[in-house]
Amino acid sequence: MVICNYSHFKSISITPSTNRCRYDTSTPRVPTFRCNSTLNSTQLRAEPEPVFTSVKSFAPATIANLGPGFDFLGCAVDGLGDFVNLRVDPDVCPGEISISDIHGTGTSVKKLSKNPLWNCAGIAAISVMRRLGIRSVGLSLSLEKGLPLGSGLGSSAASAAAAAVAVNEIFGGKLPVSELVLAGLDSEQKVSGYHADNVAPAIMGGFVLIRSYEPLDIIRLTFPTEKELYFVLVSPEFEAPTKKMRAVLPKEIQMSDHVWNCSKAGALVASVLQGDLRGLGSALSSDKIVEPKRAPLIPGMEAVKRAAMEAGAFGCTISGAGPTAVAVANDEERGREIGHRMVDAFMNDGNLKASAVVSKLDRVGARVISSSSR
Ligand code: HSE
Repeated sequence: MVICNYSHFKSISITPSTNRCRYDTSTPRVPTFRCNSTLNSTQLRAEPEPVFTSVKSFAPATIANLGPGFDFLGCAVDGLGDFVNLRVDPDVCPGEISISDIHGTGTSVKKLSKNPLWNCAGIAAISVMRRLGIRSVGLSLSLEKGLPLGSGLGSSAASAAAAAVAVNEIFGGKLPVSELVLAGLDSEQKVSGYHADNVAPAIMGGFVLIRSYEPLDIIRLTFPTEKELYFVLVSPEFEAPTKKMRAVLPKEIQMSDHVWNCSKAGALVASVLQGDLRGLGSALSSDKIVEPKRAPLIPGMEAVKRAAMEAGAFGCTISGAGPTAVAVANDEERGREIGHRMVDAFMNDGNLKASAVVSKLDRVGARVISSSSR
């Protein structure tokens, strides 16, 4: 469990650096930004020095909401995610970060800004630098997108999580997980809304429950290690920007729906802890508040859910804000069959091409995969 006091109304204070830094004689290749921080207790410690010259990190895709857990339940899935290469760069002004390169699969990657203030990885990296009080070292970041944008698989959170972990590690891993989640939240708040159900599992791995946002209080829910579960993730060629999908949420809900959703979210938590896949799937399928508003905006989604259940899935819902549909199975082969049926349903009912992958739970979360010592 991680707890820390933080108000999301305190916005991160970052200003563009308009002048080239004193030490830099070259023209910056891309815009760089200085953290104009107000020091807090974490930052009053001595400024840490880099312990690596470069670090490569990875953060996994995530499934937010898990049905009735809107904004407070999520989990990480293996095999899919984003990479960050980070290095100490004497050509970047001390205390600043530059995004040198963004690449990856899919055309949507071209939409991403190299301006760190408008890039999920950049915002999270700046936030970690501010929390560490970095004033003497400049960094260059290169982002490798493995996740498509607006897919419902926590693409922005994966970039933020990989960047947060890389910056922390290059300076010796001084910040606790809770601070990294808060840095990721600075990024999520700017791009889609203040929700930790992607970025917390992207950083921590496994299932997480966000017990409170004020103060942030996150509980890791351990799915029994001796049990396995498979997520069937079916992504249609359709974009569902989280901001847009949040705009359709109901302003008021019926008391009976509130009671229903709360009991199902509680059942989902119990099922995760017990490793009860049937219970997990049933709870995952049961959202009466958010899914009914969003599903009609994703062509074919209702038919896809029916197809998954008819093919033997334990449950099916929208992953995060969509458009990816997620189903749960206890067997990889069955998971593939369920995936085929869901792909067909997207085409037949929604006229959308789709692709399916079957993934396990990622129990680790964001991690360093290589580093070079000084
Ligand atoms: N809880 C968020 C939402 C997740 O559903 O809007 C977005 O990925």
